[in-house]
Amino acid sequence: MLLRARATIGSALGLVLACAPAPESDADEAAAPVLAEITDLDPDPGRLRAILVAEPAVLDYLPAGPAAVWAYRDGGDPDAVARVPGPLVRVARGTMIEIELRNALPVETTIHWHGLRVPATQDGTPSAQVPVPPGGSFTYRFEARDAGTFWFHPHVDAATQIERGLYGALVVEDDVASAEDFEADRVFVLDDVKLEADGTLSSTTDALDLMLGRQGNVLLVDGVRRPTLQAGAGTRERWRFVNAANGRYFRLRLQGARWLELASDGGPLPAARELDTVLLVPGERRELAVELPAAPDTALLLETLHTDRGHDVPDPGPLPLMDVVLQDPGESAPPLVWVGPDIAPLPVPGPASTRTLVLSEDDEDASDPRFYIDGLAFPETLPIMVPAGTVERWRVRNDAQMDHPLHVHGLFFQTLDPSGVPDVAAGWKDTINIPRDASVELVARFDNIGQWMVHCHILEHAERGMMTMLHVMP
Ligand code: C2O
Ligand code: CU
Repeated sequence: MLLRARATIGSALGLVLACAPAPESDADEAAAPVLAEITDLDPDPGRLRAILVAEPAVLDYLPAGPAAVWAYRDGGDPDAVARVPGPLVRVARGTMIEIELRNALPVETTIHWHGLRVPATQDGTPSAQVPVPPGGSFTYRFEARDAGTFWFHPHVDAATQIERGLYGALVVEDDVASAEDFEADRVFVLDDVKLEADGTLSSTTDALDLMLGRQGNVLLVDGVRRPTLQAGAGTRERWRFVNAANGRYFRLRLQGARWLELASDGGPLPAARELDTVLLVPGERRELAVELPAAPDTALLLETLHTDRGHDVPDPGPLPLMDVVLQDPGESAPPLVWVGPDIAPLPVPGPASTRTLVLSEDDEDASDPRFYIDGLAFPETLPIMVPAGTVERWRVRNDAQMDHPLHVHGLFFQTLDPSGVPDVAAGWKDTINIPRDASVELVARFDNIGQWMVHCHILEHAERGMMTMLHVMP
């Protein structure tokens, strides 16, 4: 069975290559975009009131021609146009957020606030609300309780809607470092799009896309193919990454610079950690301090390295994402002092009271692969029932032949190291890779009452069964 599946994927790979556009080596030299912040219609600094219009739009991903996308527009700015990613929502912690979604799409939609601990009624899933019909609107209200880098996207037919361009970043500022510690604070939303040579979005979804999550043939940083970023030589910047791709794993590297991890999904780490590469699975976020070398007139390359996520996924690498050109030396920053919040390890229940979730797949029919949690496909899956206030230990076992990034709504968890101790140095997580043929253990306090979704963030997998409900009961 495995051999046959491989053969299928191999032939489907031919298709992907066949529609691959111009070689990646010729940089477009488009300047790295700066995401426009959404218009705040509320003068009160403790509140943000904004409008997001979801609508069809036309974008030039390739010089060859425009693509018809779906995108968010800042409805509070009469001059704004829809773009991918949508407007950046950036607030201080504790801000009361009120965002009206206006649906100008031909289909129903919602907005899910990925990673934010919102009330269950504001979570934007079909279990939380009736999806907003074309021409309709819905106002989301929640408090920005936690600092961190988050993102927002539809939770209806997500594999299609996010792929078409409906996503944006939401930053809640922390006070661990000050603005002076960084020459710049940038948000990079990563994605890949499957384009035809004429620049249009490919309309084909082949067996490979269903099996692996639609992998694009053009990589995007903030909606631009291989942009060029100008930065000061010898300076330190803060970079916030979001992986908004349907299926692609990004393994990031910036050779020649020093990287310190500052925050993961759920906000600041207790201490900064030096690293060479960053693996970012779909849905995941990471914040870094980037210390650039002191030599002006040099260029560095942000790239994504080959990642083996199973099933012989065609993922050549390294592939270029962004050129970083160093300008005149900026003000060289004193060493970074990063004293993050203390993260107390959650009490870990014994192995006997561990809840096990098993991820599996059925690729018998390559044109219709199915994905399961505990052997069942959503909506047949059995809901996970947890009384509010309970701390549970979960063992997520992946019996499938490929990795799956698991996302839990409404809470953050801590992962356990192999000896069963919470890895608090890694911070709070809401999305984590579960490698094939392996288990990952996590621990969480379930205190956000309501119905939540738990699913693989390879969107095709979620839509094809790898999803279940979590009921946190009063
Ligand atoms: Cu990013 Cu259930 O979502
Ligand atoms: Cu998956």
